[in-house]
Amino acid sequence: MCGIVGAIAERNITAVLVEGLKRLEYRGYDSAGLALFTNAGILERVRRAGKVAELERALQEQPLAGRLGIAHTRWATHGAPSERNAHPHFSGTELAVVHNGIIENHEELRQRLKGLGYAFASDTDTEVIVHLIDHKLKELGDLTAALKAAVAELHGAYGLAVISARQPDRLLAARSGSPLVIGLGHGENFLASDQLALRQVTDRFMYLEEGDIAEIRRDQVLIWDQAGNPVQRETVQYHEGAEAADKGEYRHFMLKEIHEQPSVVQRTLEGRLGQQQVLVDAFGPQAAELFARVRNVQIVACGTSYHAGMVARYWLEELAGVPCQVEVASEFRYRKVVVQPDTLFVTISQSGETADTLAALRNAKAFGYLASLAICNVATSSLVRESDLCLLTNAGPEIGVASTKAFTTQLVALMLLTLALGRTRGCLNADVEAGLVRELRRLPTHLGEALAMDRTVEKVAELFAEKHHTLFLGRGAQYPVAMEGALKLKEISYIHAEAYPAGELKHGPLALVDADMPVVTVAPNNELLEKLKSNLQEVRARGGELIVFADAQAGLDNGEGTHVVHVPHVIDALAPILYTVPLQLLSYYVAVLKGTDVDQPRNLAKSVTVE
Ligand code: G6P
Repeated sequence: MCGIVGAIAERNITAVLVEGLKRLEYRGYDSAGLALFTNAGILERVRRAGKVAELERALQEQPLAGRLGIAHTRWATHGAPSERNAHPHFSGTELAVVHNGIIENHEELRQRLKGLGYAFASDTDTEVIVHLIDHKLKELGDLTAALKAAVAELHGAYGLAVISARQPDRLLAARSGSPLVIGLGHGENFLASDQLALRQVTDRFMYLEEGDIAEIRRDQVLIWDQAGNPVQRETVQYHEGAEAADKGEYRHFMLKEIHEQPSVVQRTLEGRLGQQQVLVDAFGPQAAELFARVRNVQIVACGTSYHAGMVARYWLEELAGVPCQVEVASEFRYRKVVVQPDTLFVTISQSGETADTLAALRNAKAFGYLASLAICNVATSSLVRESDLCLLTNAGPEIGVASTKAFTTQLVALMLLTLALGRTRGCLNADVEAGLVRELRRLPTHLGEALAMDRTVEKVAELFAEKHHTLFLGRGAQYPVAMEGALKLKEISYIHAEAYPAGELKHGPLALVDADMPVVTVAPNNELLEKLKSNLQEVRARGGELIVFADAQAGLDNGEGTHVVHVPHVIDALAPILYTVPLQLLSYYVAVLKGTDVDQPRNLAKSVTVE
């Protein structure tokens, strides 16, 4: 959620740090700061509440130059988003720390450190870390040894970057529960919580593993594992272009990412489809043998990824004949679960670093699941590394906080899983699979057609600009699509939105319906359509305004108080993927009309790496 950048070089690295923060700002953005070991040989810092632009402005007024430094963009957990709580935190004048994560025993450590004479200048949990390292440094006389000793006393999650004016030849890092990556340069090295921050300076990366501590010098990187043994971590070279941090012709990342969906879905499918069937090996070499044994599926995820799992449940039960349960990770991880024999444990995550999802996976390992499978967008993430099998969604970096292309590519990956499981378990007819494979190949074209609704949806968005509440309705696999539509709208336009299965309307929410409560409906063209039409009548009879996204062949047309938007025809099984697009566009245009910060909505973060 927060972002870390660090650098050690022969040149002034202020601009590298600020650019890195800007690239990470989508993850957390309520305050920012940096600390440099300046050319005058002292540690100096600048911090500001608000976005990185505020920090940049401050640096224009008060320029800082140095060859060693750390920087941070914050998403507040302990202590309000203010300058005094912004990172880096100092102990005295010679030691600085930035931190991602939460220290759970901060209260106890604070009391102890106060007893040792340390004065606290912020309300953060992070400040205990910097004083604790300082305390150890006084005892041990070496920064690396002090960091090792200090982290041994921390409970909770942390990604840390540490510098000291006493040993300015090194930038130190420690990882436990919060990712860190070292960027390798020539005669200079870098550190960040996400490689995205460093793509401007290098394409070679080394990912720290859980419990690792690193001493990063200009020309050398030393790493110790959890047990304190020196280790080498593999160097990964990236070849793809630095595609992420650029909005191109689009006004917002979100709009760019919505429009990328035809091409990224193509990428999700690439190399995974044979002539008539899904290639099971795409899930890993042992997948065929494992899938044949699967008798149940348990899906665990958060937020938008959870909604993808909800759609998959309909597919897995209907097409693959396999019982499926779906649960939000924050609940699953603290529940005593009864595991059915031969259950495949599936996690879904854009980032692969969501704290609750990761914790659920780690707990699940003790429960006797058959195997774990991660559907994830980040190949180097903890979730992928810790799962038995994985299928990457290949959506490319997603910067807009509201997830769009990550969701549709997750759905495509889950459809691939459904077909692969259906066949290996002998439950899916070969003709049905071949038909779905054919339709999957056409999906990028259909998504392009759905995007052509852009202008129409922009007009419909005007109906929402003055509204405070909305209802989203769907039936069957379109119910989770309605949930995702409601989530998008509330995330970026701050309009209260609730999703209901259409059949539940009269069990409560109908009481809310009046002329001020627009009702958005996704209407599939299947056997549930007639039932849905009755639900729509119930809304109209109460004066509610209806916005219906429907297949042109559904027989629904504009009428008084009813706005029908025709969605290109697609087979029913893939309709959840296609109908998502107009709902994304709707939220986007409502947010633009309301003038909210579309890519960085208030109070939210892209990657929730704390509980
Ligand atoms: C945050 C993001 C959501 C995302 C959720 C799960 O809440 O704002 O867009 O769906 O985390 O993230 P994940 O990376 O696990 O998919």
